Amino acid sequence: MKIDGKSYRSIWEKDGRIWIIDQTLLPHEVQIKELADLTSVITAICDMQVRGAPLIGATAAYGLAIALKENPSDANLEKAFKALLSTRPTAVNLRWALERMHSHLIGQLVSNRASVAMSEAASIADEDVAINEAIGNHGLEVIRSIASGKKNNSPVNILTHCNAGWIATVDWGTALAPIYKAHEAGLDVHVWVDETRPRNQGAALTAWELGAHGIPHHVIVDNAGGHLMQRGLVDLCIVGTDRTTANGDVCNKIGTYLKALAAKDNQIPFYVALPTPTIDWTLEDGLQIPIEQRAEDEVTHIWGQANDGSRQKVRLTPTSSHARNDAFDVTPAHLISGLITEFGIIDASYSGLEGIREALSKY
Ligand code: MRU
Repeated sequence: MKIDGKSYRSIWEKDGRIWIIDQTLLPHEVQIKELADLTSVITAICDMQVRGAPLIGATAAYGLAIALKENPSDANLEKAFKALLSTRPTAVNLRWALERMHSHLIGQLVSNRASVAMSEAASIADEDVAINEAIGNHGLEVIRSIASGKKNNSPVNILTHCNAGWIATVDWGTALAPIYKAHEAGLDVHVWVDETRPRNQGAALTAWELGAHGIPHHVIVDNAGGHLMQRGLVDLCIVGTDRTTANGDVCNKIGTYLKALAAKDNQIPFYVALPTPTIDWTLEDGLQIPIEQRAEDEVTHIWGQANDGSRQKVRLTPTSSHARNDAFDVTPAHLISGLITEFGIIDASYSGLEGIREALSKY
């Protein structure tokens, strides 16, 4: 997608070097950063300079390639694999990408490994772009159908949580891909952007992306969604996912579950955009998913831009108060209207996902 008219991906390779946009500085500064070695890749994932399930997967794949450029031995492959796998626990794309890289690389001649790794990481990145564009096209039909039922050509109001846009993936995004497609198709869309405390991925990242593409939106506090739904101001919810289990339960950014409950109570369709590398076929119940516990200071403090343009962190809570910071929650399948995958829209259920498994096995 574009920043100031220039096309970018959220991670890219040029002349064998890997570059990212440091997302901790957005929306106030667009800083391009090189991932020069394994340590910088690990820091980028842990500190959330890159984040979002698909982008975490693609970054880890490039990270393995960078590590093998330094040292292509079996021992270093195993060491880098383990180090990258332990960066963040919830988004399953991390494990998916690393296992795919590992099985592709283990049988290769050590002398070829670095170049094979770089080209496999590039394939993962390219496939992510194609998957998300397909999700966008399928999700567009949901928006189109809601738009056709609206009176006076009023906009379709879509609520989203966290950031599942192009910078959470390599390009296009998952939950935002249908919105970009609808905008391109000339449909009138308006987005309610949940701020998404504690790290404010909605207020900082989703709002920045949508603004850059001229898509009308308002940032709302995390507690406003239910109220807007009751007043008829939300037509549709679309969110992303960090891990979806074989029964269709969806783990996503903390707060997603409450939005799904409110949507159900107000008969508002609640869709999850799901690239298939985000499916964890080994788990049958969302409550089995490990939930990342992050630092207390993400809750007790907040980052922002001061009037002089500097980036500042300020305390919100009494110094004596502790905080708990579960980064994700699980939305049970029965609250979900459908999963928008690259193969089409399916039921959030064992049988819905089984159809996808069959489609994947034909590849
Ligand atoms: O903690 P984050 O910012 O990595 O969490 C991101 C989300 O929860 C996204 O909604 C999810 O990864 C889907 S991204 C396409």
